Amino acid sequence: YALPVILLVVAYLFGSLSSAIILCKLAGLPDPRTQGSGNPGATNVLRFGGKKLAATVLLFDVLKGVIPVAIAHAIGLDMVWVAATAFAAFLGHLFPIFFEFKGGKGVATALGGFIALSPILAAAGLVTWLVVFAVTRISSLSALVAAALTPVYSLWLIDSVNARWIILLTALLLIARHHGNIRRLLAKEESKSG
Ligand code: G3P
Repeated sequence: YALPVILLVVAYLFGSLSSAIILCKLAGLPDPRTQGSGNPGATNVLRFGGKKLAATVLLFDVLKGVIPVAIAHAIGLDMVWVAATAFAAFLGHLFPIFFEFKGGKGVATALGGFIALSPILAAAGLVTWLVVFAVTRISSLSALVAAALTPVYSLWLIDSVNARWIILLTALLLIARHHGNIRRLLAKEESKSG
């Protein structure tokens, strides 16, 4: 188990590289955790850092999931270890060792992990996000609906039952991280993008 365990640690460290915090610092902007929603993610960077920076944050946060999971695939680990690698990158984003364990909500990094785990599952989740966003313009609501449905899609799209449990766990944790957004959505106070 040495190799898969090392990869889990590498994935967690990768996930811990908060793109929003690092790129805002490089751009001379304040820590995203002190701005807007307080979330170090692309949606919040869009509120004060502009489209280009937000798109770059999104790209790097997605890659943090893609890269370790693609490695797990390439070295021939079985599906449950590949899914666990995606989960480790996601956990790193949520609880980054380099940033006082105060990270984000994991939408982009989960998407990246799922892209490398199962492109068809990632596409189904992404299309769900895009459809809800096209209708509502609310990033958090789009993520919540996509997170609720992705484990359902996995029943058809993922063969490994254990990998499905990891996908469900990812979705539940992602939803839990949106507790502030859920409160704002219920109070009709959640902000729209664009
Ligand atoms: O990816 C996080 C998104 O779903 C919500 O971000 O900044 O509106 O809390 P934010």
